[in-house]
Amino acid sequence: MPFEKLPMEYLYNVINHGGPAVGKSPNMPYWGLTMGQQGVADVIAYLKVTFKGIPDVTAVGDGAQAGVCVQPRKTAKASEDFISKTNPFPFSSHSIQAGKELFLRTAQPIACVMCHGEQGDGKGLMGAALVPPPRNFTCGMMMREIPDGQLFWIIKNGSSGTGMMAFPGLPDEQVWQLIHYIRSLAK
Ligand code: HEC
Repeated sequence: MPFEKLPMEYLYNVINHGGPAVGKSPNMPYWGLTMGQQGVADVIAYLKVTFKGIPDVTAVGDGAQAGVCVQPRKTAKASEDFISKTNPFPFSSHSIQAGKELFLRTAQPIACVMCHGEQGDGKGLMGAALVPPPRNFTCGMMMREIPDGQLFWIIKNGSSGTGMMAFPGLPDEQVWQLIHYIRSLAK
């Protein structure tokens, strides 16, 4: 189902009341409490606008595509000066833990887990409705081919025409922590 056809009420309930409200995992936290009513409305408005006019290229159904290992990537390439950047922070348990916290809970306007899933396999609650599906970070075969600078650039700027929104408000250090966490998920 293309994202824009998801009933508004479903989205509202998922984000605001958590998974159990729509019969999904109780692990889905109650975003309404952390984001507030306006935050929830903003996220829905953002997603609605973003998804208008995206051709329904594939019928994903219930996330049939989500979680496949090597995904076809049409994602725009970062500019040369970005793509050659490497993570300046050490790959330590401290930075991985900091990245995990952002990924699962604190990244604004919406935590990565909502789309990329608790395991980072692209099977998040909102991810199932997205075409193209969220990147599956557990797929080492694919992730090893994507340079740090590319990941950094997409997190900061988003991937236009897809559900991957921009996170321009994240300080560089936090983006690098997220990248360490994402890398730690690859099998
Ligand atoms: C609303 C859903 C959504 C949220 C929230 C989201 N993503 Fe994504 N993400 C996607 C989708 C969809 C793609 C696939 C985009 C594409 O194929 O171009 C993606 C792709 C990516 C990629 C792959 C870039 C590449 O070059 O292949 C990275 C890295 C990424 N996301 C990181 C994050 C991080 C970190 C967060 C949280 C700070 C996050 N995403 C939040 C939906 C989301």
